[in-house]
Amino acid sequence: MAERPVMGINGQWPLPTLNFTKGDRVIATVHNQLGNQSTSMHFHGLFQNGTNDMDGPVGVTQCGIPPGSSFIYNFTIEQPGTYWYHSHTRGQYPDGLRGQFLVHDPDSPYIGQYDEEIAITLSDWYHDEMPGLLSHFISVANPTGAEPVPKSALMSDTQNLSVAVQPGKTYLFRMTNMGAFAGQYFWIEGHTMRVVEVDGVHTEPAETSMIYLTAAQRYSFMVTMKDNFEGNFAMVGSMDTDLFDALPDGLNTNVTGWLVYDDAAEKPESALIDAFEPFDDYTLVPQDGLEIYDHVDHSIKLDMKMDNLGDGANYAFFNDITYVEPIVPTLYSVLSTGANASNPTVYGVNTNSFVLEKGQVVEIVLNNDDAGKHPFHLHGHNFQVVWRSEENDGFWNPDNTSAIESFPRKPMRRDVVMVNPQGNFVIRFKADNPGVWLFHCHIDWHTASGLIATMIEAPLELQSSMKIPADHYEVCHDSGTPTAGN
Ligand code: C2O
Repeated sequence: MAERPVMGINGQWPLPTLNFTKGDRVIATVHNQLGNQSTSMHFHGLFQNGTNDMDGPVGVTQCGIPPGSSFIYNFTIEQPGTYWYHSHTRGQYPDGLRGQFLVHDPDSPYIGQYDEEIAITLSDWYHDEMPGLLSHFISVANPTGAEPVPKSALMSDTQNLSVAVQPGKTYLFRMTNMGAFAGQYFWIEGHTMRVVEVDGVHTEPAETSMIYLTAAQRYSFMVTMKDNFEGNFAMVGSMDTDLFDALPDGLNTNVTGWLVYDDAAEKPESALIDAFEPFDDYTLVPQDGLEIYDHVDHSIKLDMKMDNLGDGANYAFFNDITYVEPIVPTLYSVLSTGANASNPTVYGVNTNSFVLEKGQVVEIVLNNDDAGKHPFHLHGHNFQVVWRSEENDGFWNPDNTSAIESFPRKPMRRDVVMVNPQGNFVIRFKADNPGVWLFHCHIDWHTASGLIATMIEAPLELQSSMKIPADHYEVCHDSGTPTAGN
């Protein structure tokens, strides 16, 4: 078995699943001991309402933490559900710097309906380290922008996961896809899943035998074990090969784990299926019944494509702009530019910045001019998915009244949604969280190649409410980055 280095925490890898209760205060001190790379930490899916400076993306809400320096993340958790934590520094989470982050809620509507919880992660896995893979990926040697294909799939960071279960009991599974690239199908032989949460949003229960998680998506589902012992059962994660430009010989795209009723009994090798038919998350209904925002105050159109620049390398673009991380974090620019903070050009054209006013209902129309699937994530919010086209439907047509009439009354909300190849989606959210929030493709290759826009939400409110702690500015000084105004 070949070995590769991974990025761990406190001498540990795989990284632990962190468990919290709603209302907890989190104080996480990150000492960067990587030696040769700066770093940062993002708590994916948490709104960080009032604590935008704790969100984690480098160049957006903080400077990278240089080797030898420390940085304290300090925030209160208001949202129950299934989240994860990961480095938000170029290319680091696929090298191992990611784990699950669960927030328990004693008042959950589903308490009493299950006996125990089981936390499981899925991910893809590379045998080479990201810095080398990335410098090849974005180079003249890779003009088509072909993404490296993972070497294998992991379930809870292993290919040998056994979960002990008891007959008749009901378990709440909490699942995160922490992968860099591959979406995964997931199913359990002989058992039905009852989905009750997506990306931190409780849903009306929905039964299915298969789910699909793009990179960064999460699901909670209940599974009731069989009453009478019938052997052990395979759980399978299967990488979505539609994403891969090529399918290397001998690649095993599946990872199998087991529900173990009886340790002495045999474990089935895998579980065959007839077809990949996951249930459609577009049909989910949020448990709180929140209705569609009918009236849109601010519509943003993002036309995405992949293309080459003068250096011969392939990049990703929104509206012909490929994101370049600013030297001064955008949040710090907001705080130091007075009334000009409402003018998006202050942030530089390469940040793809959009200024939102407090309380606006914002709509993002995303048109995918690329032949691939892309999972998009918005920081600081979840959003209503009001429309998602099939593949090859082309750009969204705002005059398509029959499509508009088909928008769900109570659309599902989540924080990562996939656009189909050469298709489009329309999402809506309320600008109720002043801050600087990224909107980006969560495929780490595409984050690196610039598929990012920046939402500057209520900048003037932010100026009067946000106070950045000294240690946050210190890491900028440690790395020699100017912090504008401080
Ligand atoms: Cu998992 Cu920018 O996020």
